[in-house]
Amino acid sequence: MPRFKFLSYLLMLLSLLLLDYGSSLLYVEGLGVNWGTMATHELPPKSVVKLLQDNGISKVKLFDADESTMTALAGTDIEVMVAIPNDLLLPINDFDRAKEWVRNNVTRYSFNGGVNIKYVAVGNEPFLESYNGTFIGLTFPALRNIQNALNDAGVGSSIKATVPLNADVYFSPPENSVPSAGQFRGDILDHMTQIVQFLHQNSAPFTVNIYPFLSLYADEHFPVDFAFFDGVPQPIMDGNTPYTNVFDANFDTLVSALKTLGFGDMPILVGEVGWPTDGDRNANIGYAHRFYNGLLPRLAQNKGTPLRPGYIEVYLFGLIDEDAKSVDPGNFERHWGIFRYDGKPKFPMDISGRNQPNKFLVAAKNVQYLPKTWCALRSDADLSDPQKLADNIDYACSYADCTALGYGASCSGLDTAGNASYAFNAYFQAQNQDPRSCNFQGLAGITNQNISRGSCDFIIQMGTSSSWRLLPFSLAFLMSTMVLLL
Ligand SMILES: *[C@@H]1O[C@H](CO)[C@@H](O)[C@H](O)[C@H]1NC(C)=O
Ligand SMILES: *[C@@H]1O[C@H](CO)[C@@H](O)[C@H](O)[C@H]1NC(C)=O
Ligand SMILES: *[C@@H]1O[C@H](CO)[C@@H](O)[C@H](O)[C@H]1NC(C)=O
Ligand SMILES: *[C@@H]1O[C@H](CO)[C@@H](O)[C@H](O)[C@H]1NC(C)=O
Repeated sequence: MPRFKFLSYLLMLLSLLLLDYGSSLLYVEGLGVNWGTMATHELPPKSVVKLLQDNGISKVKLFDADESTMTALAGTDIEVMVAIPNDLLLPINDFDRAKEWVRNNVTRYSFNGGVNIKYVAVGNEPFLESYNGTFIGLTFPALRNIQNALNDAGVGSSIKATVPLNADVYFSPPENSVPSAGQFRGDILDHMTQIVQFLHQNSAPFTVNIYPFLSLYADEHFPVDFAFFDGVPQPIMDGNTPYTNVFDANFDTLVSALKTLGFGDMPILVGEVGWPTDGDRNANIGYAHRFYNGLLPRLAQNKGTPLRPGYIEVYLFGLIDEDAKSVDPGNFERHWGIFRYDGKPKFPMDISGRNQPNKFLVAAKNVQYLPKTWCALRSDADLSDPQKLADNIDYACSYADCTALGYGASCSGLDTAGNASYAFNAYFQAQNQDPRSCNFQGLAGITNQNISRGSCDFIIQMGTSSSWRLLPFSLAFLMSTMVLLL
C-alpha cells in the first residue's frame, strides 16, 4: 500500500515539524526583568506588579519566593522564576528539605488564580570565584533534588529547575581567544558536566548572566564600543565570523563550551543583562541608554548571535534600584534599575525594542513620599574639627547609600559641605526623616528647601511602611479584617 505508506510518512514528517514548532513555543516571547528587593524602602509589591503590567512586562525573575511578592503576583499571568538563595543550597542537599521547599514555595501557588511559576533558580551565581568554592559541591545535588521534587509533585513538565551562573564559568583560552574555542573552567568541569547533563535530561534551560559593563569595569583597556551594539571599526574575527560586541562573543563562547560537552543545542536563557546608571565613571544614563537602545531592537528582531540566530529569552537586570545591596562588586551595584528607587523611569525607553514613543516606560502610580524635608549641614556649623565632620559623614554613609558621591558618579562634583549634606540627607531619609536622625553632633539641621544640585539628586524617600510588608500575610489579613470590624 504505497499510498498509505506515503501518507504515514507525511504524517510523521508533519508531527516532527509540529514538535519542532511546539518546542519553540515552550518559551513565551517577550522580555523579562529581575525584581530584586534589597532596598531600605520598597515600593509595595502590588504597586510593582502594576508597574510590570503597565509596562507590558510579562516575565519576572525573583531572588527568593517571598510570600508578599508571590501574593502580589497571584492571579496575574506574569511568568515567574522563583529562586533559592545560596545559603539554602546546603539544607536542600537533603531531599526531604527540597520537597518541603517545593511544597512551601512552588506547589502552594499552583492553583487557579495562583502564581504562574515557570522556573526555579537554584542558587545565584554559586560558582563565582569570590565565593572561594563554598557552593561548588552543593549546587548539583540541590538542582537534582529540586527538579526531582518538582517531578514528584507532578509539576516537573511545566516548571524547570535551572542554575543562574555567572559568565565566569566558561572562557576561551588566551592563545585562541575566540568564541568557538569556548570551554568550561577546569576547576568546575565535572560539576558543570553533571549539571548540563541533568538539565538536558529534564529539558531545562542553561541560565547565564552576561555583563558587558563588567568587561569594561574590569579592564580599562577594554574597547568601549565593543560593549555596545553600534558596530566597531575592527570586528574580532572567529574564522569567517565577525564579532562586533561582547554580548554575542560571550554568549557564543557558552554555546561552544556546551558543544564540548555534547550539548551544543541546549536552550540558553540570559538570566541577567543590563547597564547601571551611577556609582562609576562608566555607569551613567548615557551609556545605559546606548546599551538598551542596541540590545532591545536586536531582541525584538530575534537576531540572536552568530552561533544561535533567533529568539533568546532574556531577563533585564534590573527593575528597580536597590539601595541596600552590598557594594563589594562596586558602587554601581545599587544602580542597575531601569526604574529609580521610587518607580520612575530613568530614561525614555520602549522595552519592546520598537522605539515607539507612545510605548515608553511609565512610572509607578500612587507612590507615597515622605514630606519635602531634607537634612543638611548647618550653615553655622562649627567645622573647626575636620575629624568630627569626617566621622559623622562615615557614620551616615555606613547606614545609608552614598554611592553617588564616589569618583565618576553623579554627585562626585560636590565640595566638602555638599558631601556632608548629601550623606546626612541620605541617612535622614533612610531613617524615615526621624528628626533625631538629623543632628550629627549639632552639625546638621532640617530644611524644607530642595538642596539638590544639578544632576545630583538629594532624594526624598518613600513613605511606605516596610514593617507592614514584613507581617505574615495571614496576620496582616486578620488585622485588616479587625480594623474593618471595628
Ligand atoms: C520556602 O520554604 C521554606 C520551608 O521549606 C521556608 O523556610 C522559606 O521561608 C520559604 N521561602 C523562601 C523564599 O525560601
Ligand atoms: C575568600 O577568600 C578571600 C581571601 O582568602 C577572603 O578575603 C574572602 O573573605 C573569602 N570569601 C568568602 C566568601 O569566603
Ligand atoms: C566627597 O566624598 C567622596 C566620597 O566619600 C570623596 O571621594 C571626595 O573626596 C569628597 N570630596 C570632598 C571635596 O570632600
Ligand atoms: C529637587 O530638585 C531637583 C532638581 O535639582 C529635582 O530633580 C527634584 O525632583 C527635586 N526634588 C523634589 C522632591 O521636589
